[in-house]
Formats: sequence, structure tokens, C-alpha cells
Amino acid sequence: MTVTVTQMMQSFHSLTENPRRRRWLAGGALAILAVSVAVAVSLQTRAQGPSLAPLAASARPWVRYSGWPTRDTSKFNSMTALVSPPSPTAPRKPGRELAGDPAAGQKLVADRSRGGSCLACHVMGPAGGADLPGNVGPDLSEIGNAGRDDEWLFNYVYDARVYNPDTVMPPWGTHGIFNEAEIGDIVAFLKTLKSPAKFKTALDDPFKRPSPVEQRDNLDGMINPAMWLVEERAPALWKTAGPAGTSCASCHSNPAQSFRAWAASMPKWEPRLNKVLGVEEFVTRHAKATTGQDWLMQSEENTALSTYLRYLANGAPIAPDTESTQAKAAYQRGEALSTRKIGALNFSCADCHGAEKSASKWIRGQWLGELRGQLDHFPTWRTSQQSVWDIRKRFQWCQVAIWADDLPPDAPEYGDLELYLAAQNTGQKLSVPGIRH
Ligand code: HEC
Ligand code: HEC
Ligand code: HEC
Repeated sequence: MTVTVTQMMQSFHSLTENPRRRRWLAGGALAILAVSVAVAVSLQTRAQGPSLAPLAASARPWVRYSGWPTRDTSKFNSMTALVSPPSPTAPRKPGRELAGDPAAGQKLVADRSRGGSCLACHVMGPAGGADLPGNVGPDLSEIGNAGRDDEWLFNYVYDARVYNPDTVMPPWGTHGIFNEAEIGDIVAFLKTLKSPAKFKTALDDPFKRPSPVEQRDNLDGMINPAMWLVEERAPALWKTAGPAGTSCASCHSNPAQSFRAWAASMPKWEPRLNKVLGVEEFVTRHAKATTGQDWLMQSEENTALSTYLRYLANGAPIAPDTESTQAKAAYQRGEALSTRKIGALNFSCADCHGAEKSASKWIRGQWLGELRGQLDHFPTWRTSQQSVWDIRKRFQWCQVAIWADDLPPDAPEYGDLELYLAAQNTGQKLSVPGIRH
């Protein structure tokens, strides 16, 4: 379709040397153009669905956002590669390293540059000043009284998978985050822990800290800056003609009516692309095919229109198709990806957000939400970032934050993951744009 429009525009221009003829021709050719676009589009639509340009929908090569960590994590699993070192088959026999230094160990367990620190998941007596520790793991403040032998403690820190294949604890030794001598220091410190932690405030105690409740009115433009996108920016873009001479408004004059539930049915399996398509990727491909605009995923225009299309569906219950054969297969791939251990810290999405794992607990000062409740408010204004994040950017961050490689936002794996997430959120009503920390 794009080709047809472009070719027509070119032949139109080559006919237009004389200005008077040009005016006459302009009217006629535009009428022909409009009719043939409508015919081409409706033919294609009847056969397959709305026009979609078959190009990459995000920048290539994909470059991680500026300001995000740049460490090389290519030696570890990602959503596309299974390359992490294997887990050990037997406990190690620690030797000299056990004569470690407890003071050095106390510093190491609170060192945030080492995978976020042990305090991310454990209360550990005085370590780190007991400043906002998490409670994904047990309180270890009295582990020194628990009768654990040195080999157990050493191996639990080196790679807990030798004792518990389902552990969520990162394999600090196997993945090279701490060396053996450092693990010896940590074990020496653990053995000194014999009395309950003293917290400076009740908030520091993760077992007493109240769970956060988002109470801001996300649809109030005075509170949520992202409302500007849906009230001003997107309606203006809707009417802006692209290189093909058409705008969204040329074909959709009443979007509030036409698209009042559409976004709630997304993402969906798209046979022509052989992948699951989300709202953002749809906008890129459909805009390119119908207007000629290059609104790549993560561009400002794309975020504005994607936020708008979801906003138009506010109140509609999330209802993705997971029944058709291909959609079901995608859902199952998404589910498998959500339990895949990735990155240097070796976490799966489910390790942090799964109801049976760490969800509804604290990882350091951050509350871990369950999968259900995570989608209805995306794209979301993030007060801590002063910008709008769509769901794919959130996926990317949850990977980079655990020292795993992210993928381009239009990666098919993210489509599968988003479909799985949407299915977990079926029935929840869209309320977009959201606002979160
Ligand atoms: C992502 C959360 C997480 C992080 C980070 C973490 N742990 Fe754990 N840890 C756990 C959980 C959960 C358990 C409970 C057993 C299990 O799941 O394997 C545990 C168990 C342990 C145990 C065994 C306790 C016992 O009763 O024998 C030790 C020792 C331990 N952790 C030490 C550490 C040290 C030291 C660090 C930092 C180097 C650390 N953990 C970081 C989650 C974590
Ligand atoms: C040349 C005409 C044309 C233009 C321009 C156009 N569209 Fe469409 N669009 C269609 C047709 C045809 C369909 C399929 C039938 C329908 O749902 O109306 C469609 C469908 C859609 C759908 C529903 C998709 C689905 O899966 O059913 C959305 C959302 C949409 N368009 C948004 C946009 C946006 C945003 C723009 C501007 C970037 C745009 N359209 C520009 C013709 C156009
Ligand atoms: C180490 C723990 C951890 C892992 C692993 C993790 N996340 Fe997160 N995730 C967080 C934290 C912390 C937040 C912010 C607090 C919250 O809302 O849960 C978050 C937020 C989110 C949100 C937004 C929640 C909201 O309501 O705004 C989504 C969606 C999400 N994660 C998806 C994923 C996916 C998909 C994966 C797997 C690729 C993943 N996460 C892996 C810790 C994690």
C-alpha cells in the first residue's frame, strides 16, 4: 500500500510543471488518490487487517537508553540467549578463605554496587545501618546462633542452587560477583550475627513497613503531566499529515468512538508479521503504511499516540485473545520466558513478581507488585524519571536492573511476554496514563 501511495505521489509530481494545470490536476489526482487509498486499504483490510509496514519498528542496531547501566552482561542468559555458566553439581570444600575478616564482610553485604547487596533481601543485624533492608529472604540477624556449619554458609552464598534448585538467591560465586576470599569475609560476618536487628525507625523494618498504595488521581492534568499527551499532543499529531499526504484523521475522524475498546484487546497475534503486536508497535507500522510517518517505538510521537489510544479505551476491561492456536502458543512462550533465569543476578520475572515467590514483599526499599495489577496503567508517568514509560521500556529496565541484556522494544519475545502479562490482567480496566514512582 505504501508503495502505491508513494508511486502515485511521484507520478503526480512529474505531471505538474504548469501551475494552472497543477491546480486542476491536484484536485483530480487527490480525488483519485483518496479513492484508490480507500479501495486499497479496504481490500487489504477485508483480507488481512489494517495496513502494517513490514520494517523494523525500533532503532537498529538497538542502543540502550543513555544514562542506563552499560556493563557487559552478554555472558549471561537473556530473553534470546541461554549462555549462563551451569549451576554446580556438588558443594565446594572451602579452605583458607574461611579465615575471613568480619568487618570486610559487613561492608560487602551492604555494598549496593554488588548486585544491589544482600540487604536487598535480608535483614542482617547492623549491616548497612539496617537502612531499609528487604524481606524476600529470611531475617539473618541471628544466623550465627542457628548452628549452620561453615561449608553450608559458604556454599549458600557461593551458589545456593546446590542446596535449593528453586532458590531466588543469586549465584554470587558462580557468576563472579564475589570471589572466594570475599565470600569467606561474608561468612565470617554472618557468624557474628547473634542478636535481633535494631531499626532506627519502624519504616526500616520490612516486616512492619506498610505496603504502598497509589492514591494520586492519574487522570488529573494538574497531577499527572502525561495528561498533556492525551489532551494536546496526540490530538494534534492525529491531524498532522505525513509524507503520504494523509493523517490519522483522514481515515479515522472520530477516534474516541472507533477505538473506545480497541487497546484493551491488545497485544494480539499478527499472522502477517508472525509475532505478537502491541499498541506501540502497531502505531509505528500502521502510521508508516498509511501516512508515511516514521514514528519508531520509543519516539516521542509514538509514546503520545500509544498513550492516547489506550486512554481512549479507559474503563474497558483488558481482554486479549489467548484462545486461537497461534495466540495460545505465544502465551505459552511468554509464560516460559517469565520463569527464565536471566542476567548476572539470575532472576526470572516470576522470582520477583510471582505470587508464590517474592511478590508482595520488599526488595530493599521497593515493593514488589504481583503481575496482576501491573498493566492497566501503562504507559505510565514515572515521577522518579520525569517521563512516560511504556510497558516495553519497563520490561527493558527490569532486565537491565538485574544485569541482563535488554532487547529492542519490538522483539518478538517481548510480544509473547506482554501477551502473557495481559492475560494475567484480564478483566482489569484500563486507566491510562498511569502515575507511579
Ligand atoms: C533476591 C533475594 C536475595 C538476595 C539478594 C540474597 N538472598 Fe540470601 N536468601 C534469599 C532467600 C529467599 C533465602 C531462603 C532460602 C532460599 O530461597 O534459598 C536465602 C537464604 C540465605 C541463607 C541461608 C539461610 C539459612 O537459614 O541457612 C544465607 C546464609 C543467605 N541467604 C545469605 C545471603 C548473603 C550473604 C547475601 C548477599 C551476598 C544474600 N543472601 C543475598 C534471598 C536472597
Ligand atoms: C489511509 C487510511 C488510514 C490512515 C491514514 C490511518 N488508518 Fe488506521 N486504519 C485504517 C483501516 C482501513 C483500518 C482497519 C479498519 C478499521 O478498524 O477501521 C485501520 C485500523 C486502525 C486501528 C484499529 C486496528 C485494528 O487492529 O483493528 C487503529 C487503532 C488505527 N487504525 C489507528 C490509526 C492511527 C493512529 C493512524 C495515524 C498514524 C491511522 N490509523 C491512520 C486506515 C487508516
Ligand atoms: C529483582 C526483582 C525484579 C525482577 C527479576 C523483575 N522485576 Fe519487574 N519490577 C521490580 C521492581 C522493584 C519494580 C517496581 C515496583 C513494582 O511495581 O513492582 C518492578 C516493576 C515492574 C513492572 C511495573 C509495575 C507497575 O505496576 O507499574 C512490570 C510490568 C514489571 N516489573 C515486569 C517485569 C518483567 C516482565 C520481568 C522479567 C523480565 C521483571 N519485571 C523482572 C523488580 C523486578
